[in-house]
Amino acid sequence: MARLGQSWVEQSVWKPDLFKGKVVFVTGGAGTICKVQTEALVLLGADAAIVGRNQEKTDAAAAELAQLRPGARVISCANTDVRKVESIKAAVDKTVAQLGRIDFVIAGAAGNFLSDFNHLSSNAFKSVVDIDLLGSYNTVKACFDQLRKNKGAIIFVSATLHYYGVPFQIHVGAAKAGVDALSQALAVELGPLGIRSNCIAPGGIAETEGLSRLVPDLDAYIARIPLQRLGSTQDIAEATVYLFSDAASYVTGTVQVVDGAAWHMGTSMGNTYPVQIINRNSEPGTKL
Ligand code: HXC
Repeated sequence: MARLGQSWVEQSVWKPDLFKGKVVFVTGGAGTICKVQTEALVLLGADAAIVGRNQEKTDAAAAELAQLRPGARVISCANTDVRKVESIKAAVDKTVAQLGRIDFVIAGAAGNFLSDFNHLSSNAFKSVVDIDLLGSYNTVKACFDQLRKNKGAIIFVSATLHYYGVPFQIHVGAAKAGVDALSQALAVELGPLGIRSNCIAPGGIAETEGLSRLVPDLDAYIARIPLQRLGSTQDIAEATVYLFSDAASYVTGTVQVVDGAAWHMGTSMGNTYPVQIINRNSEPGTKL
């Protein structure tokens, strides 16, 4: 079910037709966070392409998003793997053929699981770096002509867990640090073309797979967040609207942290080890 609706538009600070005539291309658009980012953009007038690997999930998200606003055009680019540049290029071609253009890109496709170094194989590390970092690169690469033509804007969905060494997230931390570096370099290189590039770094967001996997004790975690609550998918959507709007026309090369100041308090997991995932009985020795 959609998280945002017309009542959000009526109560929000944004103009209802803020993104009229614009098209957003969203990898990971059927996922918990990126879908709500897209809901906000569609409710505020944009058309959208939802890009994902899973046919059923991606089709369902696109169909649901299309119901949010009369006349909204939302297409599904299912069976797309961001790790393969030709696959993402085909999704871009489909979007331009059906929706006419791409103004905004959200690079949100990501993979994550908890694993200690000993049990993280080289291939497992590569899988996450390939999805998060190479996939983000491929996405911008495939959208570049459209971004240049339309003086577009990019948002990468990053994280805060690489600001410290977070246990069992070596693969994700390395990938997201790379995403931040990618975004900053693109902001500098593509600025003269009128293309903006920013990251959003969510903290712990309620009802996400990431949070339930990473945080063993939710109450202790919330107590350490300066704003004393978890983030919501709506919080990320509001930051997205701002960064794509003309209000942010001079904002590029930044990381917009949306975490209630949580990272200032210590590691992303509140200085706790998710001890239940350490297999104390496993044989020593590295999994390659
Ligand atoms: C150790 C694991 C593992 C685990 C997979 N692997 N899960 N190793 N512990 N729990 C290893 C496999 O054994 C294999 O290595 C390698 O990873 C690739 O696994 P595959 O299943 O073949 O890969 P693939 O089908 O491409 O799946 C990619 C994935 C998967 C990343 C492993 O989890 C995925 O597709 N996830 C997408 C959905 C998702 O995770 N969404 C949540 C995003 S939350 P070997 O050596 O056996 O070949 C998020 C938030 C981050 O990103 C920030 C939080 C604050």
